[in-house]
Amino acid sequence: MSTTKTAAMDSVTASPPARRSFGARVGGHFKKWWWVHLIVFIAVVLIITLPIVYVAYPKIAQDDVNDSTLNVTSMVIANPTPDSFELLQTQVIGSHSSYHPKIYSFLASVSLLGAANPFTSVQVPTVKSKDGATVNVNQTVDLSDAGAFGDFAEAVMLNEEVQLNIYGRPELKEGSLPTTTVTYNKTVTMKGLNKLKGFDVTEFHIMTSPVNGRNMNGTVYIPNPSVMDISMGNVTLDLSVAGQPMGYSYLDNLELVPGNNTVPMTSTVNQTAIIALLTATDNPYTDGVIPFTITGNSSVWDGKELPYFTQALAANNLTVYLNVTKALAEIGLKL
Ligand SMILES: *[C@@H]1O[C@H](CO)[C@@H](O)[C@H](O)[C@H]1NC(C)=O
Ligand SMILES: *[C@@H]1O[C@H](CO)[C@@H](O)[C@H](O)[C@H]1NC(C)=O
Ligand SMILES: *[C@@H]1O[C@H](CO)[C@@H](O)[C@H](O)[C@H]1NC(C)=O
Ligand SMILES: *[C@@H]1O[C@H](CO)[C@@H](O)[C@H](O)[C@H]1NC(C)=O
Ligand SMILES: *[C@@H]1O[C@H](CO)[C@@H](O)[C@H](O)[C@H]1NC(C)=O
Ligand SMILES: *[C@@H]1O[C@H](CO)[C@@H](O)[C@H](O)[C@H]1NC(C)=O
Ligand SMILES: *[C@@H]1O[C@H](CO)[C@@H](O)[C@H](O)[C@H]1NC(C)=O
Ligand SMILES: *[C@@H]1O[C@H](CO)[C@@H](O)[C@H](O)[C@H]1NC(C)=O
Ligand SMILES: *[C@@H]1O[C@H](CO)[C@@H](O)[C@H](O)[C@H]1NC(C)=O
Ligand SMILES: *[C@@H]1O[C@H](CO)[C@@H](O)[C@H](O)[C@H]1NC(C)=O
Ligand SMILES: *[C@@H]1O[C@H](CO)[C@@H](O)[C@H](O)[C@H]1NC(C)=O
Repeated sequence: MSTTKTAAMDSVTASPPARRSFGARVGGHFKKWWWVHLIVFIAVVLIITLPIVYVAYPKIAQDDVNDSTLNVTSMVIANPTPDSFELLQTQVIGSHSSYHPKIYSFLASVSLLGAANPFTSVQVPTVKSKDGATVNVNQTVDLSDAGAFGDFAEAVMLNEEVQLNIYGRPELKEGSLPTTTVTYNKTVTMKGLNKLKGFDVTEFHIMTSPVNGRNMNGTVYIPNPSVMDISMGNVTLDLSVAGQPMGYSYLDNLELVPGNNTVPMTSTVNQTAIIALLTATDNPYTDGVIPFTITGNSSVWDGKELPYFTQALAANNLTVYLNVTKALAEIGLKL
């Protein structure tokens, strides 16, 4: 019985190759051609993964970077010199992405949006990009183009909002994926000083004994709606009445902090000219209230003029109405 079975099996085995079982044929094929299949398999894996890693991933990474937002929540400009200042800045990243790649420290050029040249470069520290992540910058920045910074300072002075552009090519890494370089081009909208709208001389007095030629003192109120804390040094302002120069006002060691600033002011005013104006027969200021035009003259730090702040100050004219009769009455002068 066993012989018959063996014979039957033999006859099966001995049948022509075309009649072999499918499994056996496949097995035989693989035994012989396994290396071809391995190569094909590797090639397919590579063809699928390489584009993901080297084409789709960089694109996704770039898309995420493009979609992220940047807010500047504080910006301190301290120790200015004509070609540098200390910058302390806090930025907050906004992102809806589910990826949180690491963005390596990179050199970013900073400019007023639309300007021909950046005014400085800032080394942005390494950050893990996720919603709400903060980036702290603390460095002395060199003004690569002080003129461009003057234009930025002027834009900050004159506008309700300014647009700051930050541009760089950082390297980025997500998990175990390779490092890829992305273009970082963000425009941050920041509040400006809006022409110092609301500026006011809240108090002023004639000094009976002048100090260094300064014969008036008082207090000015300067609102700063921006997040910027700006050290401007010794600020000089030109005073005029109806186009006629009347002297200067000084804001010593002016540091504009965000919010309301109430700072002391001293002035050197041509009192002879003021009194002549009020006592003239054609005195247009019969109520004793004189409109003074205030224009920025200069900003000086450690004896050096800061041309960019001078430019910003000079771009703005302010008018304040001062009750001179009242100030004169205080020192016992009745006109
Ligand atoms: C991202 O922004 C850059 C620069 O603004 C632009 O060139 C690019 O086309 C954008 N990339 C994608 C993937 O949207
Ligand atoms: C950034 O500012 C915009 C507009 O001021 C605001 O809508 C957004 O929530 C802020 N994002 C972050 C991350 O603070
Ligand atoms: C900024 O850096 C300077 C010097 O590197 C340091 O003295 C100062 O404390 C830092 N300021 C902040 C707020 O981190
Ligand atoms: C960055 O994007 C702005 C528009 O948002 C564009 O005007 C500017 O040319 C871009 N900068 C670079 C260096 O591509
Ligand atoms: C102005 O100067 C007088 C002295 O001449 C002084 O008494 C007064 O406190 C000063 N006022 C202000 C606001 O600085
Ligand atoms: C600033 O002053 C304005 C009016 O002069 C006032 O309404 C506002 O509350 C003040 N803000 C702060 C932060 O003190
Ligand atoms: C003050 O004004 C008078 C009259 O306008 C003028 O003669 C005089 O030169 C002025 N003094 C100064 C220091 O500018
Ligand atoms: C600035 O003030 C100085 C005197 O301190 C004066 O000679 C000069 O003309 C002023 N400059 C401007 C632009 O008003
Ligand atoms: C402003 O002027 C005063 C007096 O001339 C000086 O002591 C002070 O150091 C100056 N401030 C700055 C920031 O240069
Ligand atoms: C400021 O006023 C001066 C003279 O009063 C004028 O020459 C100048 O153009 C004005 N500047 C601005 C920005 O209005
Ligand atoms: C100016 O001050 C005088 C004296 O204090 C006062 O009588 C007068 O009403 C004031 N004028 C105005 C317009 O406030």
